[in-house]
Amino acid sequence: MDRLIVTGGARLEGRVAAAGSKNAVLPCMAAALLTDEPVVLHRVPDLRDVRTMAQILERLGVKCTRDGGTLVLQTVDRSQSEAPYDLVSTMRASICVLGPLIARRGEARVSMPGGCVFGVRPVDQHVKGLNVLGAQIAVEGGYLVSQVRRPLKGADMFLGTRFGSSVLATANVVMGAVLARGLTCLENAAMEPEVAEVCRLLNSMGASISGVGGHKLLVEGTSALHGAEHVMSGDRIEAATFLVGGAMTKGDVTVDGIDPTQLTVVIETLLEMGVAVDRGQDWLRVRADAPLRPVDVTTMPYPGFPTDLQAQFMAAMCVADGISVVTERIFPDRFMHVAELLRLGADVRKEGPQAIVKGVPRLSGATVMASDLRASAALLLAGLVADGETEIRRVYHIDRGYERIDDRLRALQGQVRREAQPPVEATPLDW
Ligand code: UD1
Repeated sequence: MDRLIVTGGARLEGRVAAAGSKNAVLPCMAAALLTDEPVVLHRVPDLRDVRTMAQILERLGVKCTRDGGTLVLQTVDRSQSEAPYDLVSTMRASICVLGPLIARRGEARVSMPGGCVFGVRPVDQHVKGLNVLGAQIAVEGGYLVSQVRRPLKGADMFLGTRFGSSVLATANVVMGAVLARGLTCLENAAMEPEVAEVCRLLNSMGASISGVGGHKLLVEGTSALHGAEHVMSGDRIEAATFLVGGAMTKGDVTVDGIDPTQLTVVIETLLEMGVAVDRGQDWLRVRADAPLRPVDVTTMPYPGFPTDLQAQFMAAMCVADGISVVTERIFPDRFMHVAELLRLGADVRKEGPQAIVKGVPRLSGATVMASDLRASAALLLAGLVADGETEIRRVYHIDRGYERIDDRLRALQGQVRREAQPPVEATPLDW
């Protein structure tokens, strides 16, 4: 297992190219189940989650070939419809093979994803939406099992969770509806750009989805889809992580290859913190030269403040000049990073779904444990401004969603190195 060692104090400076979007590429890969023709994706990030999805698809008879940033996915065998627990349990996004399997093969056996570190994450909306399209789904032995005798049938539905809409449930249901008979009207669809991107790929495969990017999607079902070629968009969450790093280190960082209109709320938050932000059509630049100002954020579905950036912004608030409040509305238990930030000397008090962050003049390096993907990014950012060395363990979490983060931070003058974690020496006991 690797660890990252960060030496704090360096100012991040330079340009970095955003990788392709992780959250968009995973459902786009699942879309390859909907056709026997090749689906070619370009600018695919080299991430653990992408490899996990490829492994699941290979088990389901989809040949996955990678050449640099290009991934070619082609269904070669439709006889296997089981996504097993050992793979699905490592990545929740694997649930999005459910809709395509049911729609194209008439059967699916997909392991329930199980809990995750930021709480119970139900799948009721995935099941509800596919149910409305005519798929009965039962839970048997920890698996979602479905067998449909007739093609799915388009229908009107409202997909809703108590927090708004669900990103992957929307993707799953749309991937079911594209091969259903007739029209599906999906109200309260998630508006996240990653959902819009899957819809655009599906349209280029011959689907007919209108309202893309909005709350109401109209899907006219078709009997077959064909192959397509698609270039992935830049990852807005990864891009914002680099920008926050630039802001925290009083640096000057430009991220290329992104769509700034997807980051409006992030830009506003950075401006509120006193950071200078410049933008072009496909780049954003941050510059900071004074302590950050405190800010309050509440996570919301897109276009609101993304829950996937809550931890990274909390790291910035930890060194801001005053008190900030974070309210987590999407995953109320997503605060695993708080305990680790406290180890670095942060002053954070958690109260229910809120955290009150009192900025401190300095953090001090320590050994910390990555608990999930975005929490690890927050620890890395905090390490960049902490005095001395911060050792981040369990970095496989960060490798799930950030491509070669250590190399890319080094290219921005950050002092980050990767080392193998030495085995813990056991103290012999006289028992
Ligand atoms: C996706 C993202 C994840 C992000 C999240 C919210 C991917 C691969 N992952 O996850 O990075 O943090 O969106 O922006 O794209 N819910 C239910 N029932 C359901 C489904 C969800 O109650 O059937 C609840 C969840 O517990 C959560 C809320 O709805 O409170 C939103 O979750 P959802 O949008 O589904 O997250 P994911 O799609 O799993």
